[in-house]
Amino acid sequence: MHTTKNDLAEENREKIVEMLNARLADATDLKSQAKQAHWNVKGIHFFQLHELFDQVATAVEAHIDLIAERATALGGTALGTIRTAAQNSSLAEYPLEIVDGTAHVDALSTAMADFGKRIRQNIDDADKFGDADTADLFTEISREIDKLLWFVEAHVQA
Ligand SMILES: [Fe+2]
Repeated sequence: MHTTKNDLAEENREKIVEMLNARLADATDLKSQAKQAHWNVKGIHFFQLHELFDQVATAVEAHIDLIAERATALGGTALGTIRTAAQNSSLAEYPLEIVDGTAHVDALSTAMADFGKRIRQNIDDADKFGDADTADLFTEISREIDKLLWFVEAHVQA
């Protein structure tokens, strides 16, 4: 940990940075999964899904930046390379052989819901460590992931 005049206790900052790096790995993985869906989806709803999956990737890219910069703001080191994400992500591997829209909707919504579950849990964790700001950051991400999950899942809810 780097020296900082930030008044959060160092032991708490350490725990929070660890949590942020775990979600940074997941978010980096999730963004690449959304791009994988964006590039490979086919079928009658090709264009809207192609666009929607890119919207997910763009949103998650912004989350990656928020998470990483919170880790450094707390005196930590952001572990943000693709290789650290590949090693540390808690998400399941994205199925590489799928093609049709419904299969991509299912695969990507599974990954988004898993990410959303962990982020929601971390809202409470951050609160326990006395860090309302990280809890707020996770809350913002959680709300947006829930909305995008709705956008994706709505394709198979009727
Ligand atoms: Fe593209």
